[in-house]
Amino acid sequence: MTGERFLESVEERARERLPEPVFRYLRQGAREGVCAGEAEAAWSRFRFLPRVLRDVTAVDLGTTVLGTDVRTPFAVAPTTMQRALHPEGEVAMARAAAAAGALMVVSSNAGSRWAEIGATGVHWWLQLYLTASRPDCLPVLESAVEAGAAAVVLTVDTPVVGTKYDGAGQSVWDVAEDGWVRVNFPGGPGSAAAAAKATDLGPHDVDWLRRVSGLPVVVKGVLRPDDARRCLDAGAAAVWVSNHGGRQLDGTVATAERLRPVALASDGAEVYVDGGIRTARHALAALAGGARAVFLGRLPLYALAVGGPRGVGRMFAELDEELAESLRLAGCPSARAVPPDLLV
Ligand SMILES: Cc1cc2nc3c(=O)[nH]c(=O)nc-3n(C[C@H](O)[C@H](O)[C@H](O)COP(=O)(O)O)c2cc1C
Repeated sequence: MTGERFLESVEERARERLPEPVFRYLRQGAREGVCAGEAEAAWSRFRFLPRVLRDVTAVDLGTTVLGTDVRTPFAVAPTTMQRALHPEGEVAMARAAAAAGALMVVSSNAGSRWAEIGATGVHWWLQLYLTASRPDCLPVLESAVEAGAAAVVLTVDTPVVGTKYDGAGQSVWDVAEDGWVRVNFPGGPGSAAAAAKATDLGPHDVDWLRRVSGLPVVVKGVLRPDDARRCLDAGAAAVWVSNHGGRQLDGTVATAERLRPVALASDGAEVYVDGGIRTARHALAALAGGARAVFLGRLPLYALAVGGPRGVGRMFAELDEELAESLRLAGCPSARAVPPDLLV
């Protein structure tokens, strides 16, 4: 692709377009922002050892996630506040993901109804926080299953929400409108089910969630091989290497450095990754590191803010085109089979 790269300026354009407290909320990390600040640079440090004399006439970006075909390894990570960026919020995001043939994971705190998201035809998974009283989260879960969620992603790095500093200005909650978040909680945004996160999660919860949902469970927020094993032994279908975009424990290690050890411990189970992935070059390193899918958190939010569903479509188109080129240049004809020795 020649000419202007949309993704080059998308964050800056989102900053210009959005109310300051909203943009700050998207971008911020926990506490001093060390973890959030290091994520992207950690991917940029990888160096490749391309293969030659390989037929790369046809390059295939398609892969499978938990048995379902997707046209791209790029996927949308669960994030709140999408309705602060576009009137249709998650529905607009879902439309774009569906058009790109990409997987979308929807935050349980979403501001759009599950049924409307499902009606876009997107392949989607529900992200869930378990509640202190486990049955409180069942209505949200059951309604998502009914609307076609194909898996449940249990986020395990958030026993409490990491503190973020808003300075002297307004916080996003000062400007948030009714209906931007948690519209799928029967008791409304302020209900006990919406508020009380479990601080006592254990492997048995993975098994419980699998049984009550009837769906595969993916555990999001794993950074250690021993934890990956505990998740899989408890019945998880896959693990997701994440530090929540640097929004939880500040100073947590970059995901770029933890993907390979977790993948090695996962014994062939699917492993996903997110955190600071902004280019196809980062994604190529992630695929070589053992990721089946590469999740994007802030990037699609900025794209949605700047261009609505068309902006998100442009994000996917650019990343897919760049990844196809990178795969060709690396001598790898398939995103599904990028060898670990591509990384020095
Ligand atoms: C504004 C915002 C809201 C988020 N909300 C959630 C959420 O509701 N549930 C969750 O599991 N992760 C949430 N995350 C974390 C993302 O799923 C993802 O792990 C992270 O954003 C990836 O890093 P990246 O933004 O650098 O791509 C959120 C992240 C951001 C930036």
